[in-house]
This record gives sequence, C-alpha cells and structure tokens, in this order.
Amino acid sequence: MRRLGILLSGRGSNFEAIARNVRSGALDAEIAVVISNRAEAPGLALARQLGLPARHIPSKGLEREAYDALLIEALRGHGVELVILAGYMRLLSPAFVRAFPMRILNIHPSLLPAFPGLDAQHQAFEYGAKITGCTAHFVDEQLDHGPVIRQAAVAVLPGDTAETLSARILEREHEIYSEAIRIVLSGRYRIEGRRVVTEDGINVA
Ligand code: GAR
Repeated sequence: MRRLGILLSGRGSNFEAIARNVRSGALDAEIAVVISNRAEAPGLALARQLGLPARHIPSKGLEREAYDALLIEALRGHGVELVILAGYMRLLSPAFVRAFPMRILNIHPSLLPAFPGLDAQHQAFEYGAKITGCTAHFVDEQLDHGPVIRQAAVAVLPGDTAETLSARILEREHEIYSEAIRIVLSGRYRIEGRRVVTEDGINVA
C-alpha cells in the first residue's frame, strides 16, 4: 500500500513536505497523482514542477456525490491506495469515505476535537487558548472527526498573532503528517474503538 493520492485546494505546503520526504527516501511511498478542485491552486503548479501527475477536476455545477464519483474514478485510475488530504477544502461524501475505508488521512491545524472546521488556528487564537497544535487523523464520515494518529502541541506565545501562531503550527503539521503516513503504510498499528495503537507506543510528536 504505497501509492499516495494527494487532494489539495491551495498552497500545498503539506504536500510539498510529503513530496520532499518521498524524494529523500524518508517516506517509502510514491505520489501517484495530485488532484485539485481549484485550477489556480499553487499546490497543483508545484506538482507539475516536480514532474508528478497533476489533475484539476472542476467541481462547478456538480452535486457532491457526482463530483466525488469523478474523484474516486481518477484516484482508482492512478492505482491510489492511500488518499492524503492536504488542505483539501471540500467536504467528502459518505460514498467517498466508504470507497477508501480507513484509507483516507487528513491534517488539521488544531488539537482535535477542539476547533474543527475552517480557520482552526484563528479560532484557537481568538478563543484565547494557551496551547493548540495540529492533528493527523483518519477520515470518517464526520467532519474533522476520525481516529487520531498523531498530534503535536504548540504553545500560544505572548507576542503571537494568529499568523505567527499558524506558521509555527504549520511547521509541526509538516512533521507529523509524514509520521502518520509512515505509520499507516507500515501497517504496524491497530484501531481499538477510536484509539490508534501503534507498536512503538508513541502517541505524541
Ligand atoms: C493546513 O494548515 C491544513 O492543516 C489546513 O489547511 C492548511 C493547508 O495548507 N487544513 C484544514 O484546515 C482542513 N480542515 P497547505 O496547503 O500549505 O498544506
């Protein structure tokens, strides 16, 4: 299970970190395809620069189920075994989640279950949280909800703005997402209820 399919909508820095780890051999995987719902996503341009298969699949005028059916077809066409959401800003249909059971990962910029949804770093900052962070998790049919694979904590510092905080969280995202992918690719974990139990017993980055 080594062929990754990356879904993204924007900048693509998490994708870039994964691609770097694949290139260096730190991650024993292959990026089979990068797909974006947005033609202008910088992450898509980056994928092309890196010589990776990159596809824009427009969503305009399509119901969610119909769009997701196109995605499933494209991912299967590229032999994708593990789907990596990397700043993919669309909700996935239950049919999509069922097409890749426990084979979809997401990175979210908060310590879930705190601050699900959009702009989690800003939500945490405005809330006045003293510690926030990021979460790499399996995707289930509920938003930002599936079993947690790795989390990293990031302290909110006195001089922080939402932007400086977001930048520090992003650095940790880049680390824990590849770690989570490595764990899932290794198969050396089991899921007990909501708990992802790894053989190394490490729970935090
Ligand atoms: C990242 O901070 C990621 O955690 C977040 O979008 C950003 C994408 O950045 N994802 C979510 O909020 C998903 N709920 P990137 O395009 O540079 O990887």
